[in-house]
Order: sequence, then structure tokens, then C-alpha cells
Amino acid sequence: ATPGKGNGKGLAFGPIVPQPAATDAFVVPDGYEWSPIIRWGDPILPGARAFDPAAQSPQQQALQFGYNCDYLDILPADPKELQKPVHTRSRGTRGLLVSNHEYTNPGIMFDESYDAATRRAIERAAHGMSVVEVTRRTTGSPWTYSRISPLNRRIHMDTEFVVDGPAAGTDLMKTVADPTGRRVKGTLNNCAGGTTPWGTVVSGEENFHGYLRVKGSDPRDARYGLRDAATGYGWENDDPRFDGNNPGYENESHRFGWIVEIDPYDPNAAPVKHTALGRFKHEGANIILSKSGHAVAYMGDDEAFDYVYKFVSKNRFQNGSSAKARAHNKTLLSEGDLYVARFEGDSPAAEIDGSGALPSDGAFDGRGRWIPLVKGGRSMVEGMSVEEVLVFTRLAADKVGATKMDRPEDVEPNPVTGKIYVACTNNSSRGNGSGRDEGPTEPNPRNANRDGHVVEIAEDRGDQLAETFTWNLLIVAGDPSVNGSAYFSGFPADKVSPISCPDNVAFDAEGNLWISTDGQPSSIQKCDGLFKVPLTGRERGNVQQFLSVPREAETCGPVVDSVDGMVYVNVQHPGENGSWAQQRSFFPDYVEEGEQAPAGAWRGPRPATVQVYKAGAGE
Ligand code: FEO
Ligand code: CA
Ligand code: CA
Ligand code: CA
Repeated sequence: ATPGKGNGKGLAFGPIVPQPAATDAFVVPDGYEWSPIIRWGDPILPGARAFDPAAQSPQQQALQFGYNCDYLDILPADPKELQKPVHTRSRGTRGLLVSNHEYTNPGIMFDESYDAATRRAIERAAHGMSVVEVTRRTTGSPWTYSRISPLNRRIHMDTEFVVDGPAAGTDLMKTVADPTGRRVKGTLNNCAGGTTPWGTVVSGEENFHGYLRVKGSDPRDARYGLRDAATGYGWENDDPRFDGNNPGYENESHRFGWIVEIDPYDPNAAPVKHTALGRFKHEGANIILSKSGHAVAYMGDDEAFDYVYKFVSKNRFQNGSSAKARAHNKTLLSEGDLYVARFEGDSPAAEIDGSGALPSDGAFDGRGRWIPLVKGGRSMVEGMSVEEVLVFTRLAADKVGATKMDRPEDVEPNPVTGKIYVACTNNSSRGNGSGRDEGPTEPNPRNANRDGHVVEIAEDRGDQLAETFTWNLLIVAGDPSVNGSAYFSGFPADKVSPISCPDNVAFDAEGNLWISTDGQPSSIQKCDGLFKVPLTGRERGNVQQFLSVPREAETCGPVVDSVDGMVYVNVQHPGENGSWAQQRSFFPDYVEEGEQAPAGAWRGPRPATVQVYKAGAGE
């Protein structure tokens, strides 16, 4: 590969035909093949048996690949590789697969033989993250995971995390089980994430409110959707910490909703929750180094009418992969400045009528500012201390005039150009006058926005440290054959693949954008998929669908290795609307009805990591 500018060069393929929503198939372009690398329940640690969904236990699940894989990367065996320019990096023939396990779908995971408490204990062990060694014969050919490796690791609800940053050890973080306020058992609802330049993985704790009951009706809890009511997961029946009504556990809910960092190269390193990056429904975090060497993290709070954030480390990155440099770089997310985004449109408000019609200047665009919440170790928010800003970040951002977005999911800098892409997945409440609605705005121009859009941000002077930027909408998503407001930066709408509900984004070595979707079955009646989008030149905005995932699944964690000619995705919640008795997806094993499943396989659906490679590369 050569350093590109995102003009469409790179992996060659013909766009696939969009698949109707009931299609239970994984579809790739002509000339490509796919296979799972690892599936829910595959054994990864000593003592794990071959997967048998009729004989699960919490102990077995803790030794297996977890459920509902979301974030994905395959790290090179040597973290030094990550410091090379993207177009010269190689994953080689030995790597570390890192995956998040966001949540569980008990209705399709368990038959009626499991009692409720056992089911819930298995679910807790199926949450978290996995690290799994993978190997292959040659670059460009498919990987096999290593059943036994000293680097294999499961992180779940019983794994101890260290809390760091300014809120660590403060009263807001203490419980009777952890009077230090610095140690938390477990991570949950880990959605998207990012691989850091120093070879660790960061991951977002997203919808934590679904697991924790709080005491009373503190408006600060309410802003996060936390309620004094039984939770859907019911874990408060098993462990008092999940219910803030239990004396001493009033603060347990403050201990979730963070960015966590794990070091896949060191199975003994304690995972960390970084309070300096704020507490909200973290989709994920993606980190780029500024020219000055500071680590800059971009983050989305995935809820309708919530915000986009940026963190800038106080200290600078140290080159090299010596133990000393790595130890230093692993502290970069512990201290720094936290900002929230304000977007201002440049068109008259009257021209933004909620229909999605372009304003008279021909673009949804304008300028923006990063408003500081914490800077130089001080709170920039009146009436809130630093620890309050970090634990109740949504309330801090409410006070400073941040812009309410249509569910910002991945927010990711393009490593080739430094521009930042925000996937606003959808917001059907925009314009309905309820709750926090404020009607259409230039950065969120459609009422009842079921299809979402993608914001492109350019920091002023091309400097990631800048506090001002310009922005425009790259894509206003939809199926152009039925939706006149779908817009693709001027590329002819009748020539693109229909796309809806952008969720994760990724970049290839040539600087093109790739988007994975979550929600197309309900918005445009197509299976979710992965799409390539050139960003410059004549091809800018030309959305081309690369793959389609099976029925009721979302496409997660895309990795596009155009150097190798391979693509990886996580397939999350296939067949999620089924039941044990009436499964609706048979991905990825596709065992025929009445056929005996081979050892370790199963007829029911299994969330899985999939690799796509050139036809014949597996022979
Ligand atoms: Fe877990 Fe925002 O998706
Ligand atoms: Ca404009
Ligand atoms: Ca997501
Ligand atoms: Ca989503």
C-alpha cells in the first residue's frame, strides 16, 4: 500500500446486493470467502470443555469466549508495529485478538433446565472482554485461534479493576466493600473501543443503567436513566452491590460508565477505569497522537440528545516499546483536559426545517468549539468540583451549552488525515417535542431521524489540540430509492448502496472510511452490513456495501486490513428476536435441522468474530 488520501483506492470489490432483513446469511463480494475465527462459547482457557449449550456453567463460561462481541481488533505480536505509519504495518502471522462482550440475550442462550440464578451467573461471566492469541501460515490467509496460550485472557464481572484519575478515591466512588474508592469488580456493557498507539485497548462501558438499581430519585441518577426499580438483568437478586438501597452501596452506580483500558500484552496487568475521561454512556474511545505527542481521545455518549467529547492528555507519548516507555504511556489517560463539543451551523435557522432539505448554501456545515469541562486540573463548570464533573459529566455538559446530537456512537480520527468522523446512529425523537428535544439543528437536521448521519470534523490548523473546528455532514443516511433526504456529499444518490444507522467506523491504510451499521432491519428493511466510503476526489460519498450480516445481527468492530486484503467484523446478536424453542438464526455453524451438530458446534445462533479473505487464501 501507499499512503493515500481516501480517494477510493485500496481493497478492490464489487458492492454486494443489499440483503432483505430476513436473510440468515453472511454475504461477501464475489472473489471473497469468510469463516468464523471464534464464536460464543469456544474454549480459550485451561479447563474449558468444548462448547455445549445444554451444559453451561458460570465456571465454564468464564473460560470461554463471551457473548455479543462488539469491539474487535487483531493486534500484531509486537506492539512496536503500531508505531509505524499505517500503510507499512503488518499483522504478520501471530496476533492477539481482542474483543468486547457487550451484553447477553438469555432468551436464546438457555433452555428451561437452568434456574434463574445460574442463568444470571453465566450471563455475568459472558460479559466483559476476551484476549485470544491467533496464528496463521502466511499474511493474507485466515487465522486460527490458539486454544491454549499464556496470553489468552477473560475479563468479566469478577475481574478486579483499578480506578485512576481525579475521581479515584473520592467519596463519590466509595462503597462498604471498597472503602478506598479505587477498586471495582467487573466491567459491563462494553460496546465499542479503540487500540492505543502504545498497544493497549480502551473500551466504553455503555448502558450501565440497565444493571444497577439506585436509591430514591436523585436527578443526577435520573439524567443517566438510573432508577429505583428492579433491573432487567436482575443481578440485584444475587449481589447487594447492584442495589443502592442496600446500605453502603449507594455509590455503586458511580463505579460504572467509564472508559476502561486493558493491556493485552501483559495478562497480569490490572485493567484500569479512567475517571479523567468522564462518566457517561460511553460508546468507546479512539485515540490519536497530536503533533506535539499528546494523546487525544474522541468519544461519543450514545443516547438521543447527548454529546461528543474530547480528552487531551497532560503528558506526552514516549516513542519506543521499552518497558519504561510502555509504563509511561499507560499513564497518559490518567490526567488531562476534558472537553465537550458545541456545533454551530452557518445557515439561517429557518432553512433547517426538519425535512433534511439542504439549506441554500448547499451544505449542512459550520464551525464548532470544544468547551472545557476540566482544564489544567481545575473544574471549568460553575458549582461543580472536578470529581463532580467527572462522575456526573452529563450534568456538567448540560450547563455549558454542548450540542445535543442524534445518538453519537463511534467518534474516530482518520489516522491518515486527522479528520474526525462521528457516527450519529439515529434519533426518532428529534422534533417530537418530548424530553430533551430541541427540534432540528444544522448538525442534526432531520426530525424523526431514523437513518442517522455522519459528521466530519476538521480541527483548526489540523491540530488535534485546537479548541475550534469546522464541520460538515458527510452522509445523511437512508435508502435513496424511498428517501429524498438521503445525501452523500453530492455523489449521485442513485449510484450508492443504501445505508442506515451508522454505528462503528474504521479506516483502511489508504484513508478511506468504513462504516458498520446497527438497525437497518427496522429502518430500511435490510440486514446490517459494512460499507466503504471514499472521502476525497470524485468518489467522495460513494457508499459501497462490502458485506452483510445475518438476520437480526448488527455489524460491529470492523477492521479493514487493505495491506493484507482482509476484513474482520464482529457479528453481534444474530437471531436476537428468537427464543430457545424457536431460534431465528443459525449463524455461524448452520447445522441443518435434524442433523447431529459436530463437536463444539450448535444449531442455534452464536455471536462470532468473522474474517473475510480473498477466495483461495485459506488453501
Ligand atoms: Fe452499544 Fe451505542 O451501541
Ligand atoms: Ca450550511
Ligand atoms: Ca455501538
Ligand atoms: Ca448501536
